[in-house]
Parts: sequence; structure tokens; C-alpha cells
Amino acid sequence: MTNELLINLSYVAAAVLFIFGLKMLGSPATARNGNLISAVGMLIAIVVTLLDHSIVDFRWIVVGLVVGGMIGAFAARLVAMTAMPEMVALFNGFGGIASLFVGWAALHSAGNTTFTITTIFLSILIGGLTFTGSLIAWGKLNEVIPGRPYIFAGQRIVNSLLLLAIIATGVMFCLEPSNANYLYLLIGLAFLFGVMAVIPIGGADMPVVISLLNSYSGLAACAAGFAINNNILIVAGSLVGATGIILTNIMCKAMNRSLANVLFSGFGAVKTTLAQVEGEVKPITTEDAYYILEAASNVVVVPGYGMAVAQAQHVVKELQELLEKNSAEVSYAIHPVAGRMPGHMNVLLAEADVPYDLLIEMDDINPRMELMDVAIVIGANDVVNPAAREMEDSPIYGMPIINVDYAKTVFVLKRSMAAGFAGVDNPLFFRENTRMLFGDAKESIGQLVREFS
Ligand code: TAP
Repeated sequence: MTNELLINLSYVAAAVLFIFGLKMLGSPATARNGNLISAVGMLIAIVVTLLDHSIVDFRWIVVGLVVGGMIGAFAARLVAMTAMPEMVALFNGFGGIASLFVGWAALHSAGNTTFTITTIFLSILIGGLTFTGSLIAWGKLNEVIPGRPYIFAGQRIVNSLLLLAIIATGVMFCLEPSNANYLYLLIGLAFLFGVMAVIPIGGADMPVVISLLNSYSGLAACAAGFAINNNILIVAGSLVGATGIILTNIMCKAMNRSLANVLFSGFGAVKTTLAQVEGEVKPITTEDAYYILEAASNVVVVPGYGMAVAQAQHVVKELQELLEKNSAEVSYAIHPVAGRMPGHMNVLLAEADVPYDLLIEMDDINPRMELMDVAIVIGANDVVNPAAREMEDSPIYGMPIINVDYAKTVFVLKRSMAAGFAGVDNPLFFRENTRMLFGDAKESIGQLVREFS
């Protein structure tokens, strides 16, 4: 077998592993293995590429793998689950800057055609804006920079001029790629564009922006793949580009907002209070909550971001088992944007070994909500806010929600009357059938568990 054939076969194997890995990420039951399979694909792709072009010898490859692997393992162990979006933002940023460097390096290889120069231009432009855009997203989530949308007069004009400057520089760069001034100008403009595109977006919308930037990092990698004529980079880049945009779309749909609204509306600049909220807040003690739960035969748990903050998933699982022992049927209602990242609740519940078949998606649980004796809302707020269904003036009007208010009794576990992520009041807390169980979710559920046992 020739060397060339062996390399191409390895690339095909890597591509197959990526695709199967992605498919397996679709279910919590197979996601872990899917991740592993994709990682093996990436390992094959990197090692084969480095050996193929005799870029470095195997000793450097081993050193790189050990050092990179250690940094990755430490970072993954140390990061809090709630800080995962920040970590993904950094990953995207590094992916972007890597593509920029690949494009830049490709500029120095001989025999570049107009097509290759164009792909180099794209990898530098998209890679550069992904890098700075991701850093701003990271800063907003981390609150290193203020999360509120940064909007100034004439912003759109400035951005349009910036875009024109990028196009003009791009044309000059493609016509005269050996002129380093165009290259530096292009890199500078790409960096600036990344910053300008993300600063007008509120911290609240950063998860969507991160998913979009993830897609951009894939496009940049794909362009870099064309620039250096590397098939596996093109395949991997396309997969990241496509999955990123699909995820962005899913998140926008789940919030009932268009991508344009996320990117340009400055959502979250003002806090909204609803004048129409009426009723009385009725707190409940864990003891009384226990008596109601003890008599319940159908219980649905609705987890949200607060469950992640409280790290309550393990006690929730304990409570589920006690309820089941008490012959109640327990299920978990999963909203597509509960928490702060896609699949956030699935990951938390999987960590606590909650059986996957108990996790029911919003559209499947909603028709059964009226049959529920108790809905236990654990640190969720926006995803159960009936204002999204009923109040046309609410900023979240139209967002699909889990209709917990249709259950016979609703327990809402949270620490205060504070609003959730979208910053809007929640009429659910004032409903006749709602009882507020104030306190840290882990402590409250822990007390319920003690009442049971
Ligand atoms: P939120 O609406 O953010 O509500 C979380 C609630 O948890 C808060 O009201 C908070 O109330 C409570 N909480 C915090 N710490 C707690 C603790 N230790 N114990 C008990 N409660 C605690 O969360 P959600 O319902 O999951 O909604 C998610 C929001 O994020 C949506 O607006 C969604 O659009 C947005 N978002 C999500 C994503 C993805 S992909 N998941 C992406 C973009 C945007 P207290 O402070 O009173 O305790």
C-alpha cells in the first residue's frame, strides 16, 4: 500500500469516527462514548497529518500529546459545570486563532492560486473575528467586562464601514498577497470586527453567540483546510460549521427569537417588571411539602439553572427513589434551554445516574401536565414562566415553556423572589396552586429526603 493511500484511508477512518461520534452525542446514553470516538478520530487525524508531511518527528508528537492532554485534562476537571459555556467560548477562540495561523502560514507556500489565496483570506478573516468575538463572549459571561449590551449612536454605520473596509482589504490582499501591509490590516480589521459584533449583545444571549462562534470556528477551519489542501480539516471544519449553526437555530427556536433579534436587538438592556402580576405568594415549609408529596402518585421534576448552581442533582435523585418507593411515578421535564448551555440538565442528571427514560422533553410532557399531582420546579424560572404564554408585552412572550401551572400543585424551589436569566417577573409564583419553598435547592431537597426517610 502506498503512503498516500494509507494516509487517505486514515483520514476516511477519522471522518467516519467524527460522524459516528456526533450521532452518538444525540442521546445521553451514548454521548460519553460518542465524545471518546470523536476524540480518537481527531488523534488519528493529527498524528497522520504531522507524520505525513514530516512536520515534526514522533518524539515531538508525543511531547505535544502529553503536554496538551495534561492541560486539557486539568482544565476539564477544574471547570465548574456552570462555567462550561465560558470554556467552550475559549475553545472556539483558540480554534479561530489556530485557523488564522494556518492561513497565514499557507501564504508562504509556493504556487498559491487565486482560489487558495481566497481561502487564506477567509481563514484569516473568520478565524480572527472568531478569536476576538469569543474572548468578548468569555469576558461577558465571566463578568470580566460588563454583560449589558454596549450600544452607541451610529453603531450600525460604523459596522457597515468596517465591513466595507474588510471587503476592500480582502480584494487588495487577494490581488497582492505578498504585500504584508494588507495582511496585517486584514488581521487588525478581523479582530476589530469580532469585538464590534459581540459587544452590542447582552450577556444573557452569550450562549447563542458562543454556539454561533463555534460554527464560525468550523468555517475558519474549513477554509484553512482548503488553503493547505487538507481533506480532513475540510471535513472536520464543515461538521463543526454545520452542527454549530443547527444548535444556534435550536436555541433561537426554543427562545422563540430570530437569530437577527439575538444579534441586533440589545436584549437584556432593560429589566422588565410586569404590571399585571397579581395574587399572593404562598411559602411552604418542607414538612408541609412532604405531606403533599407523600400523597402524590404522579410527580414531575422540572430542573433549571438553579439546580446546577445548588448542585442538587444527587439529592434530587435520592428524592426520586424515595417517591418511587412510595409508589409515585416520577419523571423529569426537560426544557431545551433550561440552564445555561444545550443539554445542561441532561448532563447534570446523567451525573447523578438518573435513568434516561425518565427524562421527558417539553413537547411530550406538556400534554400530560394536568395529570401531575405535583410539579417540583427546582431552580427553574424562565422556562416555566406563564408570561411567555399569556402576556403579550413580556420580552419572553412566545417562548415555549413547560406548563407546570397546569399541574394540581406546583412547588417552586428557589432562594428568593429574584428573576431568572431573562430578568422578567414570573406570575407563576403568585398562582393559586403554587407554593414557594424558599432556600437553596440542595438544602430544601435534602430536608425533604430526611422527612421521607
Ligand atoms: P433561570 O430563568 O435563569 O432561573 C434560575 C433560577 O434559579 C433563578 O430564578 C434563581 O432564583 C434560582 N437559583 C439560583 N441558585 C439557586 C440555588 N442555589 N437554589 C435554588 N434556586 C436557585 O433558569 P432556567 O429556568 O433554567 O432558564 C434558562 C434561561 O437561560 C432561559 O431564559 C434561557 O433562554 C436562557 N438561556 C439558556 C441557554 C441554554 S442553551 N440553556 C442559552 C441561552 C439562554 P433565586 O436567585 O431566587 O434563587
